[in-house]
Amino acid sequence: MDKQEAKKKIENLIQLLNKYGYEYYVLDQPTVPDATYDEKLQELEKLEAAFPEFVSESSPTQRVGGQPLDKFHKVEHHVPMLSLGNAFNEADLRDFDRRVTQLAQEPVTYICELKIDGLAIALTYEDGKFVRGATRGDGTIGEDITSNLRTIRSVPLTISEKRTIEVRGEAFMPLHSFLALNKEREEEEEMVFANPRNAAAGSLRQLDPKIAASRNLDLFLFGYGQWEAEEIGSHSDRLNYLSELGFKINPEWKRCETIEEVIEYVAHWTTERPNLSYEIDGIVIKVDNLQQQAKLGFTAKNPRWAIAYKFPATEAVTKLRDIELSVGRTGVVTPTAILDPVKIAGSTVQRASLHNADLIKEMDIRIGDTIVLKKAGDIIPKVVRAIEEKRTGNETEFSMPKNCPSCGSELVHLEEEVALRCLNPDCPAQLQEGLIHFVSRDAMNIDGLGEKVIEQLFQAKLIKTIADIYRLKKDELLNLERMGEKSVQNLLTAIDASKTNSLEKLLFGLGIRHIGAKAARTLAVHFQTMDRIQQATYDDFIAIDEVGEKMADAIARFFSEEKVIALLHQLSALGVNMTYTGADHSSKAALFSNQTIVLTGKMENFSRNEAKELIEVNGGTVTGSVSKNTDIVIAGEAAGSKYNKAKELNITIWDEQQFKDAIDS
Ligand code: IVH
Repeated sequence: MDKQEAKKKIENLIQLLNKYGYEYYVLDQPTVPDATYDEKLQELEKLEAAFPEFVSESSPTQRVGGQPLDKFHKVEHHVPMLSLGNAFNEADLRDFDRRVTQLAQEPVTYICELKIDGLAIALTYEDGKFVRGATRGDGTIGEDITSNLRTIRSVPLTISEKRTIEVRGEAFMPLHSFLALNKEREEEEEMVFANPRNAAAGSLRQLDPKIAASRNLDLFLFGYGQWEAEEIGSHSDRLNYLSELGFKINPEWKRCETIEEVIEYVAHWTTERPNLSYEIDGIVIKVDNLQQQAKLGFTAKNPRWAIAYKFPATEAVTKLRDIELSVGRTGVVTPTAILDPVKIAGSTVQRASLHNADLIKEMDIRIGDTIVLKKAGDIIPKVVRAIEEKRTGNETEFSMPKNCPSCGSELVHLEEEVALRCLNPDCPAQLQEGLIHFVSRDAMNIDGLGEKVIEQLFQAKLIKTIADIYRLKKDELLNLERMGEKSVQNLLTAIDASKTNSLEKLLFGLGIRHIGAKAARTLAVHFQTMDRIQQATYDDFIAIDEVGEKMADAIARFFSEEKVIALLHQLSALGVNMTYTGADHSSKAALFSNQTIVLTGKMENFSRNEAKELIEVNGGTVTGSVSKNTDIVIAGEAAGSKYNKAKELNITIWDEQQFKDAIDS
């Protein structure tokens, strides 16, 4: 290929890939399957490698750039980044409206927006290019985190507006990314993040943009600072203009003509909040007209033309009945609070992790205490403190046992660990947890083999090691309680189907220390076969980009164990696939494969996030709005405009029962 041809080809590919990226990350409406995107990206990477002189800043290959930084540089905000005054109830909102109308001396229109719980960010574009991204800092001086922000796929690297604009928004971590990240960190025995906001902040504070890139952050714009583009006289028109430029604007904003409408919007999102795929901590109400905004001006700290309504904290008070100990797959003994059932943020909570004995001591939490419970990031229940005034004297202090509650062997503190561990490799609790992990969704994904059934099989001594799962016989299963002909048949079929899983699922399922689902995938892609992994050395592992010392050491050790070598030999003889096939062949993988699905309305049996997860693990993509590319709309109770649009476009509509049947089938 000659230079001219290569240049043209690279330009076309960049344009095409940026279009696909925009559809996927900004519009939430992909028009091509992921495989097509990957294919084109590879083509571009190859061309750029052959013709490095044509690598451009706007290329999707240039999002994760260069070397880690030493430190972040300071950036001055020419237009200060202020914060908002708060409203906590209806009366505060009416007060705000009264103040605004009085000062404006004419009727005002409000724009209500969701208050995204993340970090305020400013993005500067000069001559159509993203040149600088900064944190809010103290409002006047922030930190330059451009290279981290470039990794956020919904942030356009180039725009068609050539005049300088500085736009502002909230960077955040979507809930599914947050849950996946924490799961991964737990598996790798790293500290988990308390909530998505901390996770987003922690990710953007990384000096190595590769880390930020791996965290799946997102960004909604809600404002602007410096604006040299055409004067646009209202906030809503500016949002629309920014949207046209390719920025991601949260679609739920609404124009409200009266404070009654504002209050209605607040009430609506107070109940709808758990169905969002990201966290919000309130509603922001802004005067739409920019002239009116200017007239209203600022107090010392806040604009007078906007206010943040804050949702009440989701806390509840209940009694701590007991502290139960559980032994995890790696032998870590974790105390769990057993609580009087209490309703908090829409769900009933009866258990909460207390993490470790030091924490219980530090918080001075005693069995029998009345405690304050909080949902951190509204997902994970957390014991905040004991209410000392409520003590009767009958409370008992908790102390960690010296021996493993499952096998009785002595518990030990390993160096630099807060956790207590049981080191017995034959500890029944550990074996059982290892089996539960092996069949779990990200591992071998064996349907019908949940925690309860594993417990039952383990207790009946039908399984002890992973290989035993593949030796289960119909007759012995039929002898068990609650196991009918049909469920046994389904179970055996699912076990059989899991044999064809791609290598990464088996690797993850083996439960190697520090190897989460992502690392397992990296290894599988790199080595392709189990044989090659078994033959590899520490040096081969450490040479892989994403593998650190801790991981390399753990993998090398794991595969040198006699027990592991024997186990892999058995699994292979039992017909379990040992190669990377790149596909998920587990039982339900294909149900929604390559389908684009929109969820609307409230379901009885699934939260919005659960439904989304179920669709995604079954190969589908969930998007936010209905278009001609939508394959199915799943409509729960009180489905609104999306349902009507689906009818209009003649798109398949399912009710909750149809969805449930499909998932259960
Ligand atoms: S408007 C002049 N709109 O909430 C202040 N803020 O205290 C303009 N936030 O620092 C802020 N979502 O980090 C605005 N839709 C939204 C928002 C939003 C989240 C954050 C932002 C700001 C804080 C307000």
